[in-house]
Amino acid sequence: MQKIRHLYPRITGLTIILIILSNCTPDSGNSQTVTVQAPDGLTKIEFRIQEGKPYYRVIRTRKALIDWSRLGIRLKSEPSLDSHLMLTNTVHSSFDETWEQPWGEVREIRNHYNQLKVELTSGAQGRLMNIVFRAFNDGIGFRYEFPEQENLQDFVILDELTEFVLNADHQAWWIGAYQHNRYEYLYSQTAVSEIDTVHTPLTMQTADGIYLSIHEAALTDYASMTLENRGDNRLKCDLVPWAEGDKVRAAAPHVSPWRTIQIAENPVDLITSYLILNLNEPNRLDDVSWITPAKYIGIWWGMHIGTYTWGSGDKHGATTANVQCYIDFAAKHGFPGVLVEGWNTGWDGDWVANGDIFSFTEAHLDFDLSRLSTYAARKGVKIIGHHETSAGTGNYEAQLEDASKLYQQHGINTVKTGYVGHGQNIIRYENGKPTERQEWHHGQYMVRHYRKVVETAARHGIMLDVHEPIKDTGIRRTWPNMMTREGARGQEFNAWGPDGGNPPDYTTILPFTRCLSGPFDFTPGIFDLFFEQANRPDSRVNTTLAKQLALYVVIYSPLHMAADLPENYRDHPAFQFIKDVPTDWEETIVLNGEIGDFITIARQDRNSGDWYIGSISDENGRVLEITLDFLDPKCKYRAEIYADAPEADWKTNPYAYEIKRKKINYGDCLILDLAPGGGAAIRLVEESG
Ligand code: NOJ
Repeated sequence: MQKIRHLYPRITGLTIILIILSNCTPDSGNSQTVTVQAPDGLTKIEFRIQEGKPYYRVIRTRKALIDWSRLGIRLKSEPSLDSHLMLTNTVHSSFDETWEQPWGEVREIRNHYNQLKVELTSGAQGRLMNIVFRAFNDGIGFRYEFPEQENLQDFVILDELTEFVLNADHQAWWIGAYQHNRYEYLYSQTAVSEIDTVHTPLTMQTADGIYLSIHEAALTDYASMTLENRGDNRLKCDLVPWAEGDKVRAAAPHVSPWRTIQIAENPVDLITSYLILNLNEPNRLDDVSWITPAKYIGIWWGMHIGTYTWGSGDKHGATTANVQCYIDFAAKHGFPGVLVEGWNTGWDGDWVANGDIFSFTEAHLDFDLSRLSTYAARKGVKIIGHHETSAGTGNYEAQLEDASKLYQQHGINTVKTGYVGHGQNIIRYENGKPTERQEWHHGQYMVRHYRKVVETAARHGIMLDVHEPIKDTGIRRTWPNMMTREGARGQEFNAWGPDGGNPPDYTTILPFTRCLSGPFDFTPGIFDLFFEQANRPDSRVNTTLAKQLALYVVIYSPLHMAADLPENYRDHPAFQFIKDVPTDWEETIVLNGEIGDFITIARQDRNSGDWYIGSISDENGRVLEITLDFLDPKCKYRAEIYADAPEADWKTNPYAYEIKRKKINYGDCLILDLAPGGGAAIRLVEESG
């Protein structure tokens, strides 16, 4: 029996909805394979029940890219949802919508997929669970649904059995899970057989040149997924547990996040896949006019290199006088935001252990919030607030409302938060009191905490930049005030990283791995690469100066910092690029790239027709030729090229750069001569139509 009907209202452009309902008897359902294929027909998902257990596989151009892999949910109370399952119904549908991002790396995103929902029943109690599969041209997603039902109300998930059985031992770029420094590690590149348990996104390359990235979308009230290597190319979902071992605590109706596999023939196509965003819910905020991508400077790098302190004393950075100078600098050079870290009490002593004593409303005696916010407003600048919690979530939650109100009263509409603390050191709070339990940074307890902060911030008109965050799973689509986050090693590792900082190839891996999950507040723009005043004489930034500029384009973030001290920018000709480069884009095109070697990205400014190009190399120099066939054929452009000088080298001569100007037309070729550890940053200004 087949029925065809429209389920959703038409939204924009071409929206085709086709529903095919097929009622299966339990017996017939158990033996059959049901499928759904991507709109372009290249990728197919198959589902079947075998001996009561659910499995799926993914076929790409007639080959199993993901072989038959287990699905299912093990519950604390029987019957579980992993075996003795019967397929009772399947529902097919299609969706095609183009939606607009209020801000982003691209304005319009097409969400086009075919969907298969399988409805399952378990055991004598007849517990219900659905699995929803979506096949897109750029990959697949699936998730578990726990419908409202009599036989499943409050429940605890002990294990999610989802597997990803790879068809060979692929090359993988990964960072290990359950480590001291959360997500802040260098990537390893090995065969999958050499990994243990890793964070996602996990990006892989097959021997026949397919690129895959496994991640998750819409992590809302669930544990985050890590991937455990079970041998024989079998990766299993490993949910980060609560302190007592439960994985997820929920009440039906409930849904899991989407398990996602992005698939591309070329690594650069992973970057322009918007599958993760497409699997998140649409924007929940009515008014987004106050949400504004921006660049900022701040009292920040000075603390990391030892010039200033967060705590009180002679070197205190966030003094009224110092912040006033930063506001003046921001106003003069057109930066809308000034981040102020270390303004509040609680930093004195070992601040990493001060999670319980930070105040988010009381300022250091030498910091006058009222005066500074009034001063900033007069100058057309806004202070960016800062809440370092040192992972003291209870202390923070107790003050969250008052702290948000305080900032709102002072016109502060961006806050950077922080959760410094090692691995499993979150002290859980119940009824306002600390318990003995310690939670992981990326278990359900923290997922809930981070979401509570996003929702509270939205109510107070506050945009967020979260450091030591939960990994991004695309929730900025639903909560567009969730702007950017850290969640990987940022620039600060160059200030004090015990291993000598981020090596030159690190930023050529990020766009294909961490950055697939969402925006990254990397804090580029260090010009004083050797920062002689450092308290670690061997620390430095391992790039050329031109590469620091290129990172503004290569690493996407709606909030980008000009991270260096203002005195290192004054009268520096290359500072002009940082002043010019936007943080909100109409379009993004990845022109070339190989994971860990090089990458070149072109992005078009949302507020003009200008284009910006960033190109970076690993420790090797290289010459790249790019064709500017994405420009408007009707326009002429002036290129402002900030390039490594011929003698530049990240190790021996990182400051050597040159600025060249050139007339450019649609279709012209540019040769980029990147130094070892170098880069190029280009602004293409529309001169005439
Ligand atoms: C770690 C953050 O990544 C960094 O940006 C911040 O300055 C410190 N925590 C202090 O909050």
